[in-house]
Amino acid sequence: MSSPGTVQETQKTAQPVVIAVPRESAPGEQRVAIVPDIVQKIVKAGHEVRIEHDAGAAAYYPDDLYAAAGAKIVAGRAELLNGARIVLRVQPPTVADIDQLAEQTVVIGFMNPTGNLAAIARMRDRKITAFSLELVPRITRAQSMDALSSQATAGGYVAAILGAENCPKFLPMLTTAAGTIRPATALILGAGVAGLMAIATARRLGAIVEAYDVRRAAGEQVRSLGAKFLELEINAEGQGGYARELTAEEKVKEQEMVSAAVARADIIITTAAIPGRKAPVLITKETVARMRPGAVIIDMAAETGGNCELTQAGKTIREHGVMIIGPQNLPARIPFHSSQMYARNLHAFLSLLISKDGSLIGEFGDEILAASLLVHNGEVRYGPARDLLKGGNP
Ligand SMILES: NC(=O)c1ccc[n+]([C@@H]2O[C@H](COP(=O)([O-])OP(=O)(O)OC[C@H]3O[C@@H](n4cnc5c(N)ncnc54)[C@H](O)[C@@H]3O)[C@@H](O)[C@H]2O)c1
Repeated sequence: MSSPGTVQETQKTAQPVVIAVPRESAPGEQRVAIVPDIVQKIVKAGHEVRIEHDAGAAAYYPDDLYAAAGAKIVAGRAELLNGARIVLRVQPPTVADIDQLAEQTVVIGFMNPTGNLAAIARMRDRKITAFSLELVPRITRAQSMDALSSQATAGGYVAAILGAENCPKFLPMLTTAAGTIRPATALILGAGVAGLMAIATARRLGAIVEAYDVRRAAGEQVRSLGAKFLELEINAEGQGGYARELTAEEKVKEQEMVSAAVARADIIITTAAIPGRKAPVLITKETVARMRPGAVIIDMAAETGGNCELTQAGKTIREHGVMIIGPQNLPARIPFHSSQMYARNLHAFLSLLISKDGSLIGEFGDEILAASLLVHNGEVRYGPARDLLKGGNP
């Protein structure tokens, strides 16, 4: 088996694998699935990379950089996909995208594996093979392929910057001729990958940072970043390092405990999530009413229901002098680096799919491939998506 991080470099490849990268079409999506550095590596390994014209333009990777790296730039989808064995994407394909693919094309990207059911059913019916990066297991060997983490890192950074931009205060302490300015306080709820990045960024900007997570194990990581960990009474470490859902009684206790910290914060960044579930409500509307005027909430869980009861996905609202921002797709706001990290994740993933002799493998027994295989040979392989489809959906 090849080692993660490199698509095997061979002098003689079986048959060059044609890899196609379409331009993303989802509203607001600025990222691209591959960057010129990675094109160069894949082409050097003997494969062909085709890029749809302007696919990287919004992330500041112009066509000429891809061409210089050895990619073929193509104008239309038909030419892009003709003979392509692998398609690399950021956002899940739409039904219309899927209808353009030949049977047995391998599609890799975020797939929204329990939400995008119509597209999953279409991929099943059209015998597409789809790998979902959301399903890559969080084991050590898969770290270089962990696109959820790389994009959460980007998202956490942007959230902290957005908080600073909308806060009416300086973040650092200042001693000036006009007097001393007290530092702002940032509170980060949920200290997973995105939360830790938000903590680190807010600290670098000079804020006092407090953080809370239901997994007590997060405390050490929070403290190592120079932030204060709020020691609350609940510990809800679940399976695989993720949080479990709290009981009704624990939820009430948590909201009470969190509300005191929320009331003294100027910037609140919420990232709390439970895989496959609606986001837990940590900030009720009553708590918002008790917040400092001018405080800002950046609710990173907006797309899965929000950690604040008042959040509206994709909107900024104002209540009791508090600004509540429900951003969507934060990583797309720094598309240059988000795309670079994502492309590296994909390159590492490809190293499992393309064997030493340069051919595309057909058996997906490897633990990482097996776990992330969403659709193959006319079957939905991911149990939760299969169950949802059986339950009367498309
Ligand atoms: N390769 C690896 O080993 C690897 C890679 C990435 C992440 N991880 C681990 O996976 C876990 C999840 O990371 P993630 O960033 O994807 O998490 P996530 O996006 O699923 O959730 C974000 C955070 O919200 C927290 N949370 C959930 N419910 C909460 C509540 N009611 N109140 C407060 N906080 C709540 C979770 O504990 C988590 O830290 C972490 O333990 C992380 O260290 C491991």
